[in-house]
Amino acid sequence: MSILFSSYQLGQLSVANRLLHSATYESMSKKNGEVSQALLKRYRQLARGNIGLIVPGHMHVHPTGKAGLRQTGIFSDKMIPGLKELASVIHEEQGKVVFQLAHAGRQTRKAVTGLDPIGPSNDGADPTFGVEPRVMTEAEILELIAAFGDAARRAAEAGADGVQIHAAHGYLINQFLSPFFNRREDAWGGSDKKRFRFLKQVFLAVRKNLPQELPVLIKLNTNDFTPRDGIQPDLAARYAKWLVELGIDGIEISSGTLSYAPLAMSRKRDVAGDFAFRDGYHLEAAAMIKPAIGSTPLILVGGMRKMEQMETVLKNGPVDMISMSRPFIREPLLAKRFESGKSQSASCVSCNNCLAAVRLGLPVKCYVRGLPQT
Ligand SMILES: Cc1cc2nc3c(=O)[nH]c(=O)nc-3n(C[C@H](O)[C@H](O)[C@H](O)COP(=O)(O)O)c2cc1C
Repeated sequence: MSILFSSYQLGQLSVANRLLHSATYESMSKKNGEVSQALLKRYRQLARGNIGLIVPGHMHVHPTGKAGLRQTGIFSDKMIPGLKELASVIHEEQGKVVFQLAHAGRQTRKAVTGLDPIGPSNDGADPTFGVEPRVMTEAEILELIAAFGDAARRAAEAGADGVQIHAAHGYLINQFLSPFFNRREDAWGGSDKKRFRFLKQVFLAVRKNLPQELPVLIKLNTNDFTPRDGIQPDLAARYAKWLVELGIDGIEISSGTLSYAPLAMSRKRDVAGDFAFRDGYHLEAAAMIKPAIGSTPLILVGGMRKMEQMETVLKNGPVDMISMSRPFIREPLLAKRFESGKSQSASCVSCNNCLAAVRLGLPVKCYVRGLPQT
């Protein structure tokens, strides 16, 4: 049997195989953030595909943190019935599901939230979102830490098998962690330890509100690709070590921000040089992070397409689980196909039209032939 289909343990959660559906914003929920029938349909189909662990798209923990018009919300108890249905459709098909908890910080628009985007600091207009973030007060920081904790409680009440804290891709937690986005000189910035404090408090609030048997995972940037001062693998390794000391149950590594060089390495066509897409583009970073985290599960996302490469990195290290987003958009039954021995590479060509589509408010699907003309 392929190592890809051996069972695995994330904290106290057993998963059937080493494949993870990486969080993928679907742009499919209702405008008020509640789960829709279209979303349930998508996840029933994915769960039928034998993916070990499914992480649906990031869910905003507070109204100020909504990143897209049709993003799923987890900011109110009113969301729980829909979230329960989401967990149920996945469980009915024998899948496991972890909710990704997120706050957009500065990476959103007033048109989406009805409010001015906020962030740890204001370094001028954001190059992608055009607005200058309003600097968060201490009271707002504490409110959002509590909001992450409340969201974790809702995830458990809805029947999720765990949560993943979204600390990557330039969203709020990433902003606090990054010396580029976080220019504070108070208790929340000015040194690595202080920049880590927001995430630490979020973790503690989440852990406190989640039954012990449910794992807390994290998605962490290993490289921000900001013009200067951003997270690089050595700083990410330090943060990862501190997370292990706190009791994190698994670390998925990623890179890039929406503000600067959006998800830079994932792009095949229009970004050249060091940023250009290649198979397993976070593998070097993984090798740098693993020594810092020892036996804590390391989850690799980014350009994993070939079954043989997945097996190699699982067998020889440094990786414990393989995570994919775009390949499952194109082939929801990809895991099943691999398991049946049809091991040709995932057919996703990494064109990123799916990403362009959701950012325009279209529902996620494979748009390899191009976006609809408007
Ligand atoms: C349409 C789309 C939506 C995404 N939404 C999220 C998200 O909600 N949370 C997240 O952490 N990453 C998100 N990502 C990033 C993916 O999870 C993944 O890290 C990235 O696409 C690289 O993996 P891949 O090469 O297998 O696609 C998204 C990517 C795409 C293409």
